[in-house]
Amino acid sequence: MAQLWGGRFTKETDKLVYNFNASISFDKKFYKQDMRGSMAHVKMLAKQGILTEEERDAILAGIEGILADVESGKLKITDEYEDIHSFVEAVLIDRIGDPGKKLHTGRSRNDQVALDMKLYTRDEITAIDGLVGDLLAVLLRLMKDNTETFMPGFTHLQKAQPITLAHHLGAYFEMFKRDRSRLHDIYERMNYCPLGSGALAGTTYPLDREYTAELLGFAGPTLNSMDSVSDRDYLIELLSALSTIMMHLSRFSEEIIIWNTNEYRFVEIDDAYSTGSSIMPQKKNPDIAELVRGKTGRVYGALMSLLTTMKGLPLAYNKDMQEDKELTFDAFDTVKGCLALFTGMLDTMKFNKAVMEESAKKGFTNATDAADYLVNHGVPFRDAHGIIGRLVLYCIEQNKAIEELSLEELKTISPVFENDIYEAVSMETCVNKRLTLGAPGKAAMEQVIALNEKWMEEHPVLEEK
Ligand code: ARG
Repeated sequence: MAQLWGGRFTKETDKLVYNFNASISFDKKFYKQDMRGSMAHVKMLAKQGILTEEERDAILAGIEGILADVESGKLKITDEYEDIHSFVEAVLIDRIGDPGKKLHTGRSRNDQVALDMKLYTRDEITAIDGLVGDLLAVLLRLMKDNTETFMPGFTHLQKAQPITLAHHLGAYFEMFKRDRSRLHDIYERMNYCPLGSGALAGTTYPLDREYTAELLGFAGPTLNSMDSVSDRDYLIELLSALSTIMMHLSRFSEEIIIWNTNEYRFVEIDDAYSTGSSIMPQKKNPDIAELVRGKTGRVYGALMSLLTTMKGLPLAYNKDMQEDKELTFDAFDTVKGCLALFTGMLDTMKFNKAVMEESAKKGFTNATDAADYLVNHGVPFRDAHGIIGRLVLYCIEQNKAIEELSLEELKTISPVFENDIYEAVSMETCVNKRLTLGAPGKAAMEQVIALNEKWMEEHPVLEEK
């Protein structure tokens, strides 16, 4: 009885260990990249005389068949294999026999998985770069349309000075532009091929690593076989760049959530991108923006998780590194989903321009300009600051904007005011006199829009290799 139970226990344990160790449930995600890497490896082996041309052709045809069958759904990637590498090799041997057994010549799963992950990551960077590019295009269109849409600019979430919607959106344009340039930098730095590094110490076969690197679109082979199989830096810096993208999306989402409140009503999110409440019929909730803000934590988590996984690992490969995959895949999918939905939401969002302008007027955002008016009429700035402070107090008591006071009222505060004060504190003047490069004035804004249009042309999105 005990023996029976014991035997059963051992089997169960074996199964648990097997499942704990296996990675196929998630590394099947890069089946395409795995087969692509194998095909390049086999071509190289034949070029170097390690395989015959017949063997090469048999293996290539075999892998192509497997790829086609997986894509069509005829062949299922099942959990009975430990990982995607074992799956492909086992099916290949099953289908073509002996030549299939030569596929793994001069290769280890360590350099194989390092390659697969890099190929997959490269494709993901390309996709994400394209999505950030789409967001930039929407932002640029909105900027062009709104160089005269006045709104309050905030500091401390208090109305500060008038700006335009183009200017506000332009701030995000700059952030996402930097995000794209970070993706490009990372791509360039990571684009070296680890294949041919073996388990950790290279191999005794005369492999041509330059050739496989070239076949797979890399800038060249990596230069240290130990580093090649244990480098995950590129994922860490990518997760950092993705965290920054999410942080930017989250800040933008937070603003949209505020702008969408009943109190602000600066924007109206399209029905397609909002949701209702099951109990409160009046509600139209900004769920997409909230979810983007919420999902930011997952991507930060992935970065922290991988940094922690890597920190104690001696060279070279350790199984801990298998943990790089699930969380990175989740981050890729999260960022892509958030970018696509956020861009759609922004593209279809209605801006209540009149409400925005009214809000800028009601918040004394022209107080600095009123002080500047006094300065231009000979009042020292510190005195002008005090006078306008008293003026604002008076306005609050009267529940009026500065420009709504009569000249007599203005003169009771300071005799320096003349009729041209109204022109000086109008929204148009306040905004359009701000003409330093990067400021909201229409001419300055148009200059920046033109520079950014040129930047877009000079920095096309990445293409799949
Ligand atoms: N599934 C493994 C990973 O993702 C593949 C490499 C296995 N190498 C090894 N020595 N067990 O890291």
